[in-house]
Amino acid sequence: MIYRNLLCGLALLLGSGLVMAAGKYGNLDQAGSNVFDRASLQRGAALFVNYCMGCHSMQFMRYQRLTDDLGLSEEEVLEFLAFGDQDLSNYMKSAMRYEDGEAWFGKAPPDLSLTARSRSPDWIYTFLRSYYLTEDGWNNTVLENPAMPHVLWDLQGVQRAITETREVNGEVRTEIISLELDRAGALSAAEFDGAVRDIVAFMEYVAEPAILVRQRIGIWVMLFLALFTFLSYLLYQEFWKDVKK
Ligand code: HEC
Repeated sequence: MIYRNLLCGLALLLGSGLVMAAGKYGNLDQAGSNVFDRASLQRGAALFVNYCMGCHSMQFMRYQRLTDDLGLSEEEVLEFLAFGDQDLSNYMKSAMRYEDGEAWFGKAPPDLSLTARSRSPDWIYTFLRSYYLTEDGWNNTVLENPAMPHVLWDLQGVQRAITETREVNGEVRTEIISLELDRAGALSAAEFDGAVRDIVAFMEYVAEPAILVRQRIGIWVMLFLALFTFLSYLLYQEFWKDVKK
C-alpha cells in the first residue's frame, strides 16, 4: 500500500515536471553557455550594461568584482561597463526607479541577480530569442504578453509566428508551430544566438560568482587528494613490509 502511494507520488511528480517543462510552443532550447569562458563573460557583461541595465539591476554585484573575475583592469571596467558617474564600489544598479518602471511597463522590471537560478539559463536563452511581432505589438512564446519589449530586436530582426489550426476533440485551436525571421537584424541567426548565450553566461556568473573561485580551488583540492593517496599508499607498503614477511 505504502509502495503504491509512493509510486503514485513519484509518477505525479515526474508528470507535473514534464507538463511544466513543455512550453506552449516547443520546449526550451539548450543555452550551451559556459560560465568559465572569460571572453564570453566579458561580451555578456558589455551586452548586459548596454541593453538591459536601462531597466534591470543586479543589486548584489559590485563593479569592483568584475575586475578580478572577468580579467579586466579597473580602467576597462570604468570605461566599458560602469557608465556615468559610477565608481567601482557601486552596485550594478539601474538608473530607472522602481515606481517609474511600474508606471511605464505596468510591471517593474525585476532585479536579475538571481534569475539564472530562479528561471534557469535555458529559460532565459529561449525567452530572449522567442519574441515575435503581431498586429498588437511584441509577444513571446516563453512568457506570454510580456511587459518587457523586445530590446534586442535590432540585433535579431523581426520574427513572425507561423501558426497551424487544428481540430482537437471537436475544438478548433490555433497553435504556433514555429517562429520565422521576417526582417533581418544586424546579426545573423548564429551570431544572435551567440550574443544571447554570452548574456546568459554573464547572468549565470552573477547568480553565483563563487563558482569561478570554486573551480580554481577545486583543481588544487583534487591534486592534493591524489598526492595524499599516493603518499598513504607508500606508507602502507612501508608498514606492511615487515608484517607480511
Ligand atoms: C525597457 C525596459 C527593459 C529592458 C531594456 C530589459 N527588460 Fe527585461 N524585463 C522588463 C520588464 C518590464 C519585465 C517584466 C516582464 C513580465 O513579467 O511581464 C522584464 C522581465 C525580464 C525577465 C524575466 C524575469 C522573470 O524571472 O520573470 C528576464 C530574464 C529579463 N527581463 C531579461 C532581460 C535582459 C537579459 C535584458 C537585456 C538584453 C532585458 N531584460 C532588458 C523590462 C526590460
